[in-house]
Amino acid sequence: MVEVSVCIGSSCHLKGSYNVIQTIQQMIEEEKVHDKVEFKATLCMRQCSGNGVAVSVNGQPYSVSADAARDFFMTTILPLAK
Ligand code: FES
Repeated sequence: MVEVSVCIGSSCHLKGSYNVIQTIQQMIEEEKVHDKVEFKATLCMRQCSGNGVAVSVNGQPYSVSADAARDFFMTTILPLAK
């Protein structure tokens, strides 16, 4: 099981967390890995200084822009879910 958390705190919200969430949810459906990915939104993860939205994958912190969310899913999340 891959644990993915996307920050929906105010700073990350302004950087596009809604779009990151939409994209990752869509990719989970497209790749049919909903039983392998535990996906949730969290409040501020104290990583507001990144350029993108704070995302945690199995406890590992990442900073993901809305434009890069699809690539991020394919390269970082999907391999762990296979
Ligand atoms: S608001 Fe997202 S890490 Fe602080």
